[in-house]
Amino acid sequence: MISKQPTDGIQPGLLEVPSLTNLPEWAAFENAARLSPIHVHSLRLINAAGIDLDISGQSSSPALTQATKALLAARQFNAMRDRLLSGGMVNATEERAAWHTALRAPAPIDDVAAERLRLNDFIRQADSERRWRNIVHIGIGGSDWGVRLAVSAFGYAGTWRKVHFVANIDGHAIQGGLAGFDPHDTLIVLASKSFTTAETLQNGQRALEWLKAAGVQQPYEQVVAITARPEVARQWGVPDAHIFKFWDWVGGRFSLWSAVSLTSALAVSADVVAGMQAGAAAMDAHFAHAPIAQNAPIQMAIAGIVNRSVLGYGSLNIAPYDFRLANLVPYIQQLEMESLGKSINLDGKAVGAATGPAVWGMPGTDAQHTFFQWLHQGSDGAPVDFIVCEQADHGWPEHHQSLLANCLAQREALLKGKTYEQALQECLADGMPQEKAEWLAKHRVHAGGRPSNLIVLPRLSPYTLGALLALYEHKVFVQGVVWGINPFDQWGVEYGKVLAKGIASELSGKTAVDETHDASTAHWIHKFVDHRSN
Ligand code: F6P
Repeated sequence: MISKQPTDGIQPGLLEVPSLTNLPEWAAFENAARLSPIHVHSLRLINAAGIDLDISGQSSSPALTQATKALLAARQFNAMRDRLLSGGMVNATEERAAWHTALRAPAPIDDVAAERLRLNDFIRQADSERRWRNIVHIGIGGSDWGVRLAVSAFGYAGTWRKVHFVANIDGHAIQGGLAGFDPHDTLIVLASKSFTTAETLQNGQRALEWLKAAGVQQPYEQVVAITARPEVARQWGVPDAHIFKFWDWVGGRFSLWSAVSLTSALAVSADVVAGMQAGAAAMDAHFAHAPIAQNAPIQMAIAGIVNRSVLGYGSLNIAPYDFRLANLVPYIQQLEMESLGKSINLDGKAVGAATGPAVWGMPGTDAQHTFFQWLHQGSDGAPVDFIVCEQADHGWPEHHQSLLANCLAQREALLKGKTYEQALQECLADGMPQEKAEWLAKHRVHAGGRPSNLIVLPRLSPYTLGALLALYEHKVFVQGVVWGINPFDQWGVEYGKVLAKGIASELSGKTAVDETHDASTAHWIHKFVDHRSN
């Protein structure tokens, strides 16, 4: 049931979450996890919202299943999940809800429905007038990656509107973003929840100057702002009809589900946006109702906790075997690392266990020729999420068979490994002399037993992509609950932003160089100031 009062619920002071490592349920979980092997001869499959999740490549045992249930109960997981899904306060340090699920609900609350209608009217009008052959989408982090992902996933073969994404504050980014576009037929989309993000506002200014310099009579008519602070966008000059709002209770890294998806709708169609929302909503329903053993986000989360906090893997590799999903890697990187890159629990004490892993990756098969060597034989290794579509959307079945074969083969090699004896037999079968074979076989051994998930989408459709993103979102939430951290804030990022403001002011000469900087930072500030004044 959806609450109309997102901040209803418990007060921050009541969020008493005992440190994980003080819980007997954690000790039992750790113990069970250590004793649970990966069973290469049994199959564990979950179907969720049309996606197959194969977790056969993760540790399992009846004891771990029991310990998982007890740990989730000790963390009051059911109550936390209800609070998340009903718009209760789950982001304690910022005292708000994280209610992105409300944006994709099939029957949304009035405010959300009204804004969706306004947005769809804007899109319909632009489409019927065949306006805006070019779009410059300006936004960063959550205001960028999801839209880039949707456009590259469904517009990989070209779109009738050309889209350039500009995120970085590096002036080369906006220079390239504006290059080649006709200013008279370009829509500038400013996507920023806070409407204070330096990158977005500075790049927006450059875009506005570019429109004015080209003689565009009413430049603000070519600017759209999507934000949770419409009054700031208004002050910036954007007309009301071009401001689409979302709400404070949507975390920045979940803003894809808001009107921020305008660019995807214009580039690859409003149906793509609606389909993604429907798939995500189906995953929300699965997350809400499926029992623990068949709940895909919960099972992925638990496997991740075993790998990170018990087995000590420091990173998670994302390997989409789909060229169209290249942008899934940075999308999941932000989702996981901004959410789970914390070491303090809600009580303000150290978590005591290793939390969110570093997330990295690249589409297969490129990844195989770049870093898979490290995954197979490096001293650390990393769990891998293999993601692949059963069916392709091109007309070359042999390409798709090769892609599927590579995906399965890499995963099998990581799982089963290769023993010294097998390697030796291979070398001898190649006709090598015994001594050389014994030496070379040592280099060909694969440890095996390296954990992985295999996620299979029937096809890459807006629905399955939406479901896939929601699967990762909920997985991250479950991990936040178990570790006892707030996955919805990002204070680490905030600190750097504040320092950058001060240094920018020093570099511009507006303020004197603060002599409390460390020696190296002070040196470079002085050096860059000198360079500017020469
Ligand atoms: O990186 C910090 C962050 O606040 C992200 O959470 C967010 O996605 C990004 O900056 C952009 O923020 P905004 O949408 O407010 O411009």
